[in-house]
Amino acid sequence: MARVRDVGDRLHRTFFRSLSLLGSRGQGALLRRYFDWWHRNPDPWRMGTDAYEQAKYAATLAQIPDRRYGSILEVGCSEGVFTTQLLDAYPDADVTGLDISQRALARAAERVEMAADRATLLSADILTFRPGRRYDLVFCAETLYYLGRRDRLKRASEQLRGLLSPGGVLVLVHPWPEARRLHRFVHAGPLSQVSELVENSADRPFAVSVYEARTTGSTG
Ligand SMILES: C[S@@+](CC[C@H](N)C(=O)[O-])C[C@H]1O[C@@H](n2cnc3c(N)ncnc32)[C@H](O)[C@@H]1O
Repeated sequence: MARVRDVGDRLHRTFFRSLSLLGSRGQGALLRRYFDWWHRNPDPWRMGTDAYEQAKYAATLAQIPDRRYGSILEVGCSEGVFTTQLLDAYPDADVTGLDISQRALARAAERVEMAADRATLLSADILTFRPGRRYDLVFCAETLYYLGRRDRLKRASEQLRGLLSPGGVLVLVHPWPEARRLHRFVHAGPLSQVSELVENSADRPFAVSVYEARTTGSTG
């Protein structure tokens, strides 16, 4: 079973790496089409119901340093399943979900309706997004492997870092051990690592890596 999944993962990564041979605008246009198609039916990854996904969300929330966060961003929020958990977990925070798929965001809008005064949804590509502001807490889960080749991953890592307020916290969640590769540009950069949880007991192991920006000066 694990072998079949490994082969599937390799094909998946090869497909998305081939899209990243295009220029970033071409790649973004294809990713947008692909993820709108992928979201043709609601909750395509069963994020809202799958026990593994729920356990991963709980493990992620448990890793967050216990502080007051005024602004939170979730990059690759899909239909807003985790976004709603963030709205519940941080009732004083404004929470923004960003995704490349407008179809996913339309469903996310229904999910976050109960806290619409604190929720914002942005249609954007993390590779080309020009944020007008920074955030106290930024999440990026199960998204970096779509970006393909090394320079795109590096670019996305720089973008994520640049989204942090001084002292802001960045949380990356991806399959383990691939997370070592996916998180490496953030890991090697100027942020300090706060913690890393590797959940090996799950059928599909994952890592939750938490980083923190300096409290003063540039976040790079
Ligand atoms: C597997 S889902 C992850 C959902 C959520 N982070 C979670 O863990 O529940 C990946 C999401 O990333 C989005 N995505 C892929 N490439 C993106 C990009 N370049 N910029 C923004 N979002 C992107 C997809 O549309 C999809 O909704």
